[in-house]
Amino acid sequence: MSGAKGGIRDLIDRLEAGRTLSQQEWVVLIEGRNPETAEYLFERARAVRERIYGKDVYIRGLIECSNYCRNDCFYCGIRRSNGNISRYRLDRETILDCCQEGYRLGFRTFVLQGGEDGAMTDEWTEKTVAAIREKFPDCAITLSLGEREKESYRRFFSAGADRYLLRHETADRKHYAMLHPAGMSYEHRMNCLRELKNIGYQTGCGFMVGSPGQTALSLAQDMCFISEFRPEMVGIGPFIPQHDTPFARETAGTLELTLYMLGLLRLLRPNVLLPATTALGTIHPRGRELGILAGANVVMPNLSPSAVRGKYLLYDNKLCTGDEAAESVENLKMRMKEIGYRVVTDRGDFRQ
Ligand code: 5AD
Repeated sequence: MSGAKGGIRDLIDRLEAGRTLSQQEWVVLIEGRNPETAEYLFERARAVRERIYGKDVYIRGLIECSNYCRNDCFYCGIRRSNGNISRYRLDRETILDCCQEGYRLGFRTFVLQGGEDGAMTDEWTEKTVAAIREKFPDCAITLSLGEREKESYRRFFSAGADRYLLRHETADRKHYAMLHPAGMSYEHRMNCLRELKNIGYQTGCGFMVGSPGQTALSLAQDMCFISEFRPEMVGIGPFIPQHDTPFARETAGTLELTLYMLGLLRLLRPNVLLPATTALGTIHPRGRELGILAGANVVMPNLSPSAVRGKYLLYDNKLCTGDEAAESVENLKMRMKEIGYRVVTDRGDFRQ
């Protein structure tokens, strides 16, 4: 009998019972993992997820509206100083066409994601949200456009946006400073998240797994932050180096640790909307299926026009098929069915 093993299972049981873990306990839970405790965690995570969301998998139509970005995050391929990528920005008509096609395919959530592009003004964004809201009254609109003024967030919300994704990237201040240039502030990002929540958005935070400089303690801090912040959504995926960034030669995060963190997140926030992300699908051919089996309940297929899909290159080898959106949805439905889950046509809101 290994005491450590019993210890990990006990922590998993306490997490499932809704007890608050200390930062040190999170460190133990993360550092002390092994294949058996991970399997136990995934079983518990699936049970919790199925109690709340059944076998349903929600799909979100991801529309990557611009790869211009004023930021210079060390890990990201669309960072300002990357002169080697071809920049694009979608116009409103194109975005509405993507939604139209998505609607036909069964999507009831559209996610507008983009770099922090100055040309996407408040007015433009507000009008775009309003246009989607008017044309697709039964759909949820999610924005993922980075840090903006509180007033801007309010305007988008009034125009009809329901949700906002803004990964906090790391809840460890020192680590934050290793991932971002001096001009970017941990406080500002955290303030944005609080404002989004106060306005009434279903709010999503998240982090990369295995980003340079990350330790078990940083991950423990992420979990403590999430426990306190109570987000409706959490997006996580492995860090994957991009060849034109300062982190080009860093090691990627692992499938194994990402799955483990997904399982822990499901137990920490039973109702959370938790995607098996594209990055997870990129580091392993069955990454997204394994993510669902670890406790995730959302997938976000790309609805961007195929002409620009290859340009939103946050990291190398990003999973992006030349497939038409229709084919990739069919493929996804099949993959989910094979593991006993079903893709549903539903807004897929957070369940209280
Ligand atoms: N590897 C993995 N994820 C990345 N992101 C940005 N760059 C990378 C990378 N190299 C993630 C960040 C960001 C989200 C849109 O994509 O967490 O918030």
